[in-house]
Amino acid sequence: MTDPARTLGEEVGGLDAAADRRAPLASVQDLRIQFRTKAGRVHAVDGVSFDIRDGEALGLVGETGCGKTVTARSFLRLVPSPPGIYAGGRVQFRPRKRCEVCGGAGCGACGGAGRVPTACPRCRGTGCSECNLSGEETVDLLRVPERRLREIRGNRIAMIFQDPGKALNPALPVKQQIAEVLHVHRSEELLRRAGIDSDAGVLMPLLRRMAEQRSRRAERVLLGLPPGRRHSRRLGAAVAEWVAESLAETRIANPRKVMNSFPHELSGGMKQRVMIAQALACDPDLLIADEPTTALDVTIQARILELIRELQDRHRSSVLYISHDLALVNQVSDRVAVMYAGRIVESGPSQAVFRDPRHPYTRGLLAAIPTATDERGRLMAIEGTVPELVDPQPACRFHARCPYAAPACRTIDPPLRAHRDDRPVACFLYESAEEVGADRSSMPTWAGRR
Ligand SMILES: Nc1ncnc2c1ncn2[C@@H]1O[C@H](COP(=O)(O)OP(=O)(O)O)[C@@H](O)[C@H]1O
Ligand code: SF4
Ligand SMILES: [Mg+2]
Ligand SMILES: [Zn+2]
Ligand SMILES: [Zn+2]
Repeated sequence: MTDPARTLGEEVGGLDAAADRRAPLASVQDLRIQFRTKAGRVHAVDGVSFDIRDGEALGLVGETGCGKTVTARSFLRLVPSPPGIYAGGRVQFRPRKRCEVCGGAGCGACGGAGRVPTACPRCRGTGCSECNLSGEETVDLLRVPERRLREIRGNRIAMIFQDPGKALNPALPVKQQIAEVLHVHRSEELLRRAGIDSDAGVLMPLLRRMAEQRSRRAERVLLGLPPGRRHSRRLGAAVAEWVAESLAETRIANPRKVMNSFPHELSGGMKQRVMIAQALACDPDLLIADEPTTALDVTIQARILELIRELQDRHRSSVLYISHDLALVNQVSDRVAVMYAGRIVESGPSQAVFRDPRHPYTRGLLAAIPTATDERGRLMAIEGTVPELVDPQPACRFHARCPYAAPACRTIDPPLRAHRDDRPVACFLYESAEEVGADRSSMPTWAGRR
C-alpha cells in the first residue's frame, strides 16, 4: 500500500466508505449463453452471477472450455451469434467519469476511487426503476442499443486478448490503430490538445461518425476541409504525441519507433504492450484481460502482469482478469471466482481462496500448481476433462471427476451459497441433507473419498 490516497483513506477511517456504498461497476446476473450445435444446445455459460467493484481486479479462473471467454465477450456483446444465443440474464454496467474534485487522484468526494458514477439519464440521480433506485446510469449491455454499445466499447470497457497478433490489424501501423480509438472516442480532447477549438468543433460529430467506419477516411475528411486543413499539422502532431504517450506508459522501448511499425515487426511481448496501450488510451472503467500472457514466455509474462497491475493502480480502473492459472490470478487479483463447466463454483478474496480452497475443483486446481497445465491448458492433477455441456441434466457438473462424489451429486444441482462467511461455494460437502432435501446416506462426506 504505497498509494497515498488509499493510505489516507484507511487512516481517517473510511474515505473508502463512499465507494463501498456505491452499486458495483458491473453486475453479471444469472447469465446464460448457449450454442446451437449438431449435437444439441451447448450450455456454455449457465447461470453465472458476479460483481466487479470499483477499482478492484477480479480473477476468473478455470480450465479451458469452462466458459470464461464467452462470459467476458458477453460484456461487449461479442459472442458470435449464430451459433451463440443470449439465453438469459443481464450484464449491468454503470459507467463512471473522472472525479472533478481530485482529477482522478482519489479524494473524499469519490471515496478514493478517482471516478464517480454518471447520473441516471432518466431520473437524473434521484433513483428510479431503470437504475434500481441507485441514481447511477445503469446499462444492460445485453440489451442496450448498438449505438450506445459502440460508445462504451473500447472507451468505458476495453479488452485485451490472449493473441495480440490476431487482434491487431496486420495491414496498419501501430500509430493508426491506436489513433483510431482516439478519433472515435476522444475527438474533442484531441482538438483541445491540438489547440484547435470552436469553429473546427462543428466537424467533430462528422469525424466521429466517419471514424466509426474507417479512421483513414475520417482523418482525410477532417484534414481536407477548411478549417481543418489549417490545423492539420497541429492535429497530426497531437495524435502522434498522444499515441506515443500511451505507448510510453507501457514502458515499451522506443515508443516513437514502435508507433511507426507494423505488428509483424514486433515481438509477442511488444504486441501485447501495444494492445494494452490501445486498451488504456481512453482510460476505461473496466479492462477485461483474457489470458493476456498465455502466449508469452515466463519472464515476459511476469513483466506484463506487473504492468497491468501498475497501470490499474494509476488509472484506478477495474480489471476482469481471466486465466486458467490460479497461482497467476492470485498474484494479480483482489477477488477470484472459480468457474467450472459454465458455472461459478466458488468465489472469495484471492488470498483466502488460495489459502483455504473449499470446492474440490478449486483444490484440484491448486494441487495442479506448479506443474499446472499442459500446453493446451488442460489440468494434469485432476483426471478427466471438462464435460460437454450439451443439454446438461441436474447434477454437480464436477461429479465424474470429484473424489467425493456421492449419489446426491449425480441427481441434484448444488447451488452456489455462502455458509460460514462471505465465501460462496457450490458443493454438497458444505450442505446438510435437510438443506438439500436428500437422504443423508446419499450425501457426500470428506471421509467418503474414493
Ligand atoms: N463458436 C462456438 N460454437 C460452439 N460452441 C462454442 C463456441 N464458442 C464457445 N463454445 C463452447 O463454449 C464453451 C466455453 O468456451 P470458452 O468460453 O471459450 O471457454 P474458456 O475461455 O473457459 O476456455 C466451449 O467448451 C465450447 O463448447
Ligand atoms: S462433493 Fe459432490 S457436490 Fe461437491 S464437488 Fe464433489 S461431486 Fe460436486
Ligand atoms: Mg478462453
Ligand atoms: Zn475525487
Ligand atoms: Zn434512475
